[in-house]
Amino acid sequence: MAFCKNFLWGGATAANQVEGGWQEGGKGASAADMLSSGSHTTPRQITAETDPALYYPNRTASDFYHHHAEDIALMGEMGFKAYRMSIAWSRIFPTGEEERPNEEGLRFYDNVFDELHAQGIEPIVTLSHYEMPLHLVNKYNGWASREVIALFERYARAVIRHYRGKVRYWLTFNEINCGTLPLGNYMSLGIRNPGTRDFLRQVDNVPLRYQALHHQLVASAYAVLAGHEEDPDAKIGNMIAMMPVYPLTCNPKDQLKAQQNWRQFNWYCADVQCRGEYPYYAPAFWRQNGIELEITEEDRRTLKAGTVDFYSLSYYQTNCVTVDPDAAQASGNLLGGAKNPYLQTSDWGWQIDPDGLRFTLNQIASRYDLPIIVVENGLGAYDKLEEDGTVKDPYRIDYLREHIKAMKQAVEEDGVPLFGYTMWGCIDLVSASTGEMAKRYGFIYVDADDQGGGTFKRYKKDSFDWYKKVIASNGENLA
Ligand code: BG6
Repeated sequence: MAFCKNFLWGGATAANQVEGGWQEGGKGASAADMLSSGSHTTPRQITAETDPALYYPNRTASDFYHHHAEDIALMGEMGFKAYRMSIAWSRIFPTGEEERPNEEGLRFYDNVFDELHAQGIEPIVTLSHYEMPLHLVNKYNGWASREVIALFERYARAVIRHYRGKVRYWLTFNEINCGTLPLGNYMSLGIRNPGTRDFLRQVDNVPLRYQALHHQLVASAYAVLAGHEEDPDAKIGNMIAMMPVYPLTCNPKDQLKAQQNWRQFNWYCADVQCRGEYPYYAPAFWRQNGIELEITEEDRRTLKAGTVDFYSLSYYQTNCVTVDPDAAQASGNLLGGAKNPYLQTSDWGWQIDPDGLRFTLNQIASRYDLPIIVVENGLGAYDKLEEDGTVKDPYRIDYLREHIKAMKQAVEEDGVPLFGYTMWGCIDLVSASTGEMAKRYGFIYVDADDQGGGTFKRYKKDSFDWYKKVIASNGENLA
């Protein structure tokens, strides 16, 4: 068998995109609760106050808050070995500044973890997946302030201590390298600069953003250290949005541009989290971009000591880069690029590239000596619920099959140390980039629309039974 015996097959979600119940159980508002719905063509709005003319999809999401027992039973039926999920920080510390955690919030996740273990499913828990208490956005401009580091450490310590024995795998920040992009200001760093409203055109202060990202990297290292203190058995990983690029042509200038792009987006954060210090190219990058980071001696010591135990990534698509300004463009997860003539695209224009996953896993394995897990991969598509309650999604099966084949080759033929795969959005949820429910990823269909309507009933898609067979055969039966 290509995959190891205990390979962690499963699915992934994030609290803000799946839970709903935004004001229940003592939860405070989070940054994600202030993001309006949008679409492929209309950007989401970032609002400081609730605008009654707008709809806020993350507040209801897929209503996992009230459906978790049913949802976890369905995951159990598929044979999941792992479920990657996140804790909403504002469920545990509603403003982020309380001295003690909210007991009701802790209990909610206790129930979720107990239900998972009853099904033999291992939780893999992200401490912060694109949300933070709204209060911290309002008071500190999010991660722009150093104060937030200690608040995050308190939160990380509290949950790792409380769930000791129930959670063995933790991830610090979802797609931490999103902070290298202007898009990451609000979603990833909680920065809402004056004048920001349009999700796709946020007011950007580059030096401030990189300082905020530095604070997040330090906080990630503190979480690793605190986590190991609280639970020596805990394995704590990073999480990087892999956005691989190929040079569009063999023009050496395209090659150089691609190399620079890899450093800037794919390696910048991971190098710090895996090796414990900023890489050789960082000071030059800072100089060229007017960035003067405040890095204390204690920051350096913490980064050095708080390196991660494993490497996790999301992978959806690839792009090309070129120095040719006239090259045709494609869109993608967080970032677009030049169009690749060899690839097909999804309904949302993301280029589908299974071989790119094999290539990417090898890139990671050859750079860091760490076990690797793919914690996001999947296809956002329009699905149709038929009269008889079925959903025919062969396109999703095709996408997943080809990516699993590519992982298999990476393991079997190349020797990549891969220990799990959690497909993104195993149950339909709110899209992070567009705020739509219509962009569906799941094996499980949720009857909810883009205006907050629907029964929220769950239905199995065709891919549900297919994935069940994949897991039962440990990735051997992909038919
Ligand atoms: C990743 C995020 O970037 O991609 C998820 O970690 C997100 O939160 C996923 O949902 C898919 O992107 P989208 O925009 O289709 O939801």
